[in-house]
Amino acid sequence: MRSFLDLVEVSSSEIAEILTLSRRGGKVFSKGDSVALVFEKPSLRTRNSCEVAVKRLGGHPVYIQNSEVGIDTRESAEDIARTLSNYHRVIAARVFRHNVLERMVSSTEGIGAKLPIINLLSDKSHPCQAIADLLTISDVMSLGNSYRGVKIAYVGDSNNVTFSLAIAALKVGAEISIASPEEYSFDQASRVYLSSLGEVSFTSSPEVAVTGASVVYSDTWISMGDEDEAEIRRSIFAPTYQIDADLMAKANSGAIFMHCLPAHRGEEVTAEVFEANAKTIFAQAGNRLDAFQGVLRYCLA
Ligand code: CP
Ligand code: NVA
Repeated sequence: MRSFLDLVEVSSSEIAEILTLSRRGGKVFSKGDSVALVFEKPSLRTRNSCEVAVKRLGGHPVYIQNSEVGIDTRESAEDIARTLSNYHRVIAARVFRHNVLERMVSSTEGIGAKLPIINLLSDKSHPCQAIADLLTISDVMSLGNSYRGVKIAYVGDSNNVTFSLAIAALKVGAEISIASPEEYSFDQASRVYLSSLGEVSFTSSPEVAVTGASVVYSDTWISMGDEDEAEIRRSIFAPTYQIDADLMAKANSGAIFMHCLPAHRGEEVTAEVFEANAKTIFAQAGNRLDAFQGVLRYCLA
């Protein structure tokens, strides 16, 4: 039984194990087993892929919105997790503050409840997305298990998706270059940590990042929780950080564009680049289903 909060705590061999388990058949739940899916923020892909994954593995998903449970307003995260631990085999949660997930782990451990807590996106990381991203890169580029020699360029806000993507990529041996404006780039501690994992570079230049890249990746400039900064963020990102056909032409020939979605055409990516890569992007969304099955198998092993 293992929790899955952040890829920081997941070794390279465990990531390889999750990728393998993502594509394995068979059920893991017994009749009557259920999984709590707690959402403090909206979701299309995560909610749907997780519900379907739990059903495919023989369990029963229970979708819980924050308007019902009120994390740290109606009731503390600790009391919510310890209550849910009585009913469910797993708690998976999408939260604003990553620390809420850590508090769920320590509070359930504190009463001897043995159930994994899974991160479905926090302000710090989005590890289930990164597993789907690796599956997609391998599928589209026919890589099998070896990501060596693949360079990924991430262009935009250095956020939760970027952090998990970078850790996942580096731990499987890929290279990543991250282009962000100074104000929205990783802090020194994160840079030092990522640099310790492999070949990573940080730049403010999208052109530098995409040079030699076979994968170009972007995410929204305005993550959930950043809405108050929307205008200032747009004014900083828009002049330089939109992925358009000219930027894609500076990447390797045949480079693919990936996006975790939701996408904002005319902001982080042009409609032209998005539609030219729609097959890959929606396969990536589809791989969230495989990825969550792999994560559940890994957590319950
Ligand atoms: N990529 C992703 O997590 O999408 P949702 O926010 O729709 O779940
Ligand atoms: N960085 C985005 C990802 C959405 C799936 C956010 O946190 O809103």
